[in-house]
Parts: sequence; structure tokens; C-alpha cells
Amino acid sequence: MIKARIAGTGSYVPEKVVTNFDLEKFLDTSDEWIVSRTGIHQRHVAAADENASDLATQASRKALEMAGVAPEELDLIVVGTVTGEFTFPSSGCMIQKKLGARKAFAFDVSAACSGFIFALSNAVNYHRLGGVKRSLVIGSEVMTRTVDWKDRNTCVLFGDGAGAVVLVSEEGERGILSTHLHSDGNFSELLYQPGLGASPTEPPQDHFVKMQGNEVFKVAVKALSDVALEALEANGLRKEDLKMIFPHQANKRILDAIGKRLDLGPEKVFSNVDQVANTSAASIPIALDHAHRGGKIQPGDLILLNAFGGGLTWGAALVRW
Ligand code: UT7
Repeated sequence: MIKARIAGTGSYVPEKVVTNFDLEKFLDTSDEWIVSRTGIHQRHVAAADENASDLATQASRKALEMAGVAPEELDLIVVGTVTGEFTFPSSGCMIQKKLGARKAFAFDVSAACSGFIFALSNAVNYHRLGGVKRSLVIGSEVMTRTVDWKDRNTCVLFGDGAGAVVLVSEEGERGILSTHLHSDGNFSELLYQPGLGASPTEPPQDHFVKMQGNEVFKVAVKALSDVALEALEANGLRKEDLKMIFPHQANKRILDAIGKRLDLGPEKVFSNVDQVANTSAASIPIALDHAHRGGKIQPGDLILLNAFGGGLTWGAALVRW
């Protein structure tokens, strides 16, 4: 059967780093609180002239180079993002222009922090149908522009960045084995950001991200663990078969809790949240690129990507690398 295989990965984080100590200077918080509650030490913040499509273009160029695929060869670009510079055109169209990917059709997927997995699932299905042979799947966000920098409950958690993968159609064992997506709008009030459509007469006065962190935490641990087991079971595979998992990087305590629930040692639960914080849809492709370039995954390894975010949304992809 035709599979979509990840032939290249790339990531990009903005140059500017904001540490917890920098936050202490203007916010009622401390490095001690942030590290002990989240595992985050620092986050990257986009420059004034950098948008989500700029970060994505940088990450994409690296992924394309690794895959040996030219932008003009791409059939499809799908972007998980909720922080594009325009409501429309999509970030996908902006990235297509910047890369010169003339023949690719391009669109965005809105699933908050699960955006990359939802985008990946879309692309995989186009590969299976046969019309798409080479695609680019991206997660890119400038989350630091969506938070109230006076709200310590949210602003310490997020960072900016982008990650990308190039998919190629191939026969054989390697590739994306399955994807599993879920949503539950009943929990929408736990985590949301008002949009331009929120007010009939004027732009929303308060457009910042709102989160009931404690409640989100509980649902996230269960959903991320359950969807991992669902993906394994659908493929007749076991937890022991996994080389490594790449959960959404929101909080080190969530990563530890998932590892415990799945009986996976810490070495099998990838984490870079200490360095990049929560980059929403970008978190999984950045993590994957860091692990891949760091030599942590090899051809034939079984890995799992699992995400969770506002919506609520959650999902997983099981991959034979
Ligand atoms: O990416 C999408 C999915 N998002 C997530 O998965 C996030 C899930 N949630 C979390 O990661 C955690 O719930 C947080 C890190 C957001 C919060 O950690 P927590 O252990 O759940 O803390 P809390 O919200 O229960 O707050 C405990 C205390 C509160 O003070 P009081 O009311 O006990 O006096 C907060 O006001 O910590 C206070 N607090 C802070 N203190 C210093 C909240 N934020 C801060 C802060 N610095 N930045």
C-alpha cells in the first residue's frame, strides 16, 4: 500500500530568547515557579518583522533540503497554525509564494496546539488517494503575540517557532502507519482566544488567550495517553515496540505523567519544552527535527506523535521511521 514517508524535517526558532529571569523583571513570577510547574527555562520570541509564514519558510527550506525535494516539485502545502498574519490569505498561500512552490495547492488547518497532527492527517490522506506525491506539512506559530504579557497564568508558557516535514509517497514498511483525530467542543471554554468574528461591530477588545490551566492539564494527560494506545491498538502494536514518543510540548509534568501512564522510561518521551516552551502547532515538528538531527531516531524505529490543544482537539500519528 502507498504510504506517506517523512523524507525530511526542519525547524526554526527566532533569534531572541526570553528567559524566566527576564520575566521576573516585569511580572509577579519566578524562575523557580515556572521551572517547577512547567519545566520551561526560556522561550524564543519573533522579531517585529517576522510572521508565522516567515518562520515556516525557514523551517521548510531545511526540511526540503534534507529530503532533496525542490519547492517546485511540491503538490501540497498544509499548515497547522492559529497565528497567521492574515485571516486570509492562508499562511499556506504566503509560504507557497515565499518558497516558489508554484504547483502546490495550499491551505491552513485550525486545531490550535493539535494543528500539526491534523495537518499531517490531511496530507497523508491526499497521498493515499494518489493525487499528491510530495507534500510539505508545517506547524508555525507566533503565540507570544496572542498572550497578555500582564497575565502570569498564560504568558510564561508560550514561545514562537516553526517545524516542517516533507512527505513523499512510497510503497513499503516505512511511513505514517495511521493517524487518529478527536475533538470535543463541549470543553471549548477551557482554552480559547476570541477571533475577529466575536463582535458584530468592532474588533474584539480582549483578544488574548484564556486558559483554565488546571482543568486542561487533567484532560490533556488522559487524552494524550488514550490516543497513543488507540494508535498502537489499531496497528496491532504494543507500547514496548515504541522507540520514542513526541507528545505536544506544553509542560514537562504532562510529559512525565504520560510516560508513567504508558510505562515508558523518560528516555523514550522526547522533551525540549525547557528550551522552546509551548509553541502550539509547531511543538511536535520542532521536537521531531531536534530528535532527528540529534541522531535519536533511526530508519525502522517506531515512533508516535501525539498532540492536544484548544477545541478541545487531540490526535496521534504512528510512524515507522
Ligand atoms: O497547549 C495547550 C494545552 N495546554 C496545556 O496543556 C497546559 C496545561 N496546564 C498546565 O500546564 C498547568 O496547569 C499550568 C502550568 C498552566 C499551571 O500550573 P498549576 O500547577 O496547574 O498551577 P495553578 O494554575 O493551579 O496555579 C497555582 C498557583 C495560583 O496561585 P494561588 O491561587 O494558589 O495563590 C496561581 O495564581 O500559582 C499561581 N501562578 C503563578 N505563580 C507564579 C500561576 N501562574 C503563575 C506564575 N508565576 N507564572
